Amino acid sequence: ATVRVDCRDGGHSISDRLVGAFFEDINFGADGGFSAEQVINRSLEISRPLVGWMKIGADVSMTAENESPIKAANPTFLRLATESESPTGGVENRGFRGMGVRDGETYRFTAQGRSTAGAKMKLAVRLVAENDEVLAEQFVTLGGSAWHTTEVDLVPKRTESKARLQLLLRSKGIVDLDLISLCTTDTWMGRPHGLRKDLVQLLADMKPAFFRFPGGCIVEGSQLKYRYQWKTTIGPRDERRLIVNRWNNEFAHRPTPDYYQSFEIGFFEYFQLAEDLGAEPMPIINCGMACQFNSGELVPLEELEPYIQDALDLIEFANGPIESEWGSRRAAMGHPEPFGMRLLGVGNEQWGPEYFERYRRFAEVLQSRYPDVELISTSGPFPAGERFDFAWPLLRNLKVPIVDEHCYATPDWFMREATRYDHYDRKGPRIFMGEYASQSVQLVCPQNRNTLRCALAEAAFLTGIERNGDIVDMSAYAPLMAHEEAWQWRPNLLWFDNLTSYGSPSYYTQLLFSHHHGDQTRPTTVTDTRPSRQPRGRIGVGSTDASVEYKGIKFESGGDVLFDQRDIKDDDVLKVGIGSRWNVTPEVTRQTSRGGYTRAMMGDYRWSDGTLTLQARKVAGRGGL
Ligand code: AHR
Repeated sequence: ATVRVDCRDGGHSISDRLVGAFFEDINFGADGGFSAEQVINRSLEISRPLVGWMKIGADVSMTAENESPIKAANPTFLRLATESESPTGGVENRGFRGMGVRDGETYRFTAQGRSTAGAKMKLAVRLVAENDEVLAEQFVTLGGSAWHTTEVDLVPKRTESKARLQLLLRSKGIVDLDLISLCTTDTWMGRPHGLRKDLVQLLADMKPAFFRFPGGCIVEGSQLKYRYQWKTTIGPRDERRLIVNRWNNEFAHRPTPDYYQSFEIGFFEYFQLAEDLGAEPMPIINCGMACQFNSGELVPLEELEPYIQDALDLIEFANGPIESEWGSRRAAMGHPEPFGMRLLGVGNEQWGPEYFERYRRFAEVLQSRYPDVELISTSGPFPAGERFDFAWPLLRNLKVPIVDEHCYATPDWFMREATRYDHYDRKGPRIFMGEYASQSVQLVCPQNRNTLRCALAEAAFLTGIERNGDIVDMSAYAPLMAHEEAWQWRPNLLWFDNLTSYGSPSYYTQLLFSHHHGDQTRPTTVTDTRPSRQPRGRIGVGSTDASVEYKGIKFESGGDVLFDQRDIKDDDVLKVGIGSRWNVTPEVTRQTSRGGYTRAMMGDYRWSDGTLTLQARKVAGRGGL
């Protein structure tokens, strides 16, 4: 092959924010991940059952109470009581799959407490290892019936990844405890109650151009009442309202029943992190729709106003002067300067007319009030095949500035789609490939691994993103990270346990393109005299893990199955398999000579005179055809 590059003239400039990061609280990414807090359910608000807390010993009782709490917003607290003159029992917290503690490091225990009847109550605060060895012990005394703060530092005598925190009564009487915390003092930027240093460092090393948060499906929630509401995630931590995590459900690879969002890390902390990283903040807001893979609950159009108001207030929170209502909240949290937010996503991964109508209403208000904030619309779920093609004319009509595509598919798909953007309309919206990752087996499959082949396929795909850096504005791998013992989805870019963390091969692909992408393309021609190996047929089956079988040969791909039409004879039978767990409607898409698509419900088709004939067959199991 001969490659000719015109080094003098032509080409186009490449976006300077091509590679960024997408964070979602999935796989214990926030609580038990980014957050350095070690105590699970520290506010005791997951009280039926009392998640994470276990009674120790027979001489102490443990109950969850809510009479005269610290604040109405945080109603439940823990009560320990004993009749014994010299008690030994108490309670322990197991943390997020154990607590990782390091030899010689300082872990600060804090809690709100009171002793009923005003007696002075002594409490032993201990860190114990998995084998029950005591790693550190200190004592605190709670005196008085008014809630007050108690604090003590623990320094473990050795490193342990599965430590537990024990609180043991050492006096007779009753003690109430709430907002119980154990946190290293060695956090990212040394902020009290801050973020886990090693994880932020891995992210910072990527030099992401932007930081998208807080998700992902958690923006939408399984039902609207569980959607992400940024206003309940800022301000004092004891006023942040805990909710069940969207990934604590049957849609996860591995449901995690103790998965909640405490909002230890809320919108203020996300904006602050983006600033630390030198990345543009990109919040995503709920657009009045719950996750369409769950309930798909909709806010009636005439009741959308509070959702739009939330978006307006968010812009004021991020950028407004300190005299403004929401700017003053930001200032009160310690950041009088604006965060300089210029990007805002409306909805996560929504599709259908119900989304476009809602996007339109958001855009009308937001673009007239804040023309400098660029809006990002979604284009529906993966694969960015058929559904996206249908959405495109609408997106263009709506004059959407940036469209967020999501693609989870096989390595083959990513390699092939390296040319994906070569023919995108340069006059249409710019692209944000907002979530993508090569799946080693298939989408939503616990067997998926972070293989080298996946990382290479993503690199191939990124060459296409870079080459089309005039129309592709931004891109981000997803999900960002996962706890080794508490994931719901894989593969992921980073992996961690309670003490350590590392980047997957895909992480190094991201580093490569983030650090070294060009700023300008040059006209290039490649002359290849070898016979074309390009597949020429295409069957879109509306699923990311489809396959077509023909005479024992299986063509596997993400979404669209490509094969060489020349191999297929009239009236041959193709078996189409859809291995997806998503409830997709089986459809056949045929690329026409004009480059458009025709669609038909799955049935019998024939291949004759250039027309595809395909007979659908039921494939055993997993909802195939
Ligand atoms: O990244 C995991 C999930 O994939 C995201 O929450 C969602 O946007 C997509 O379906």
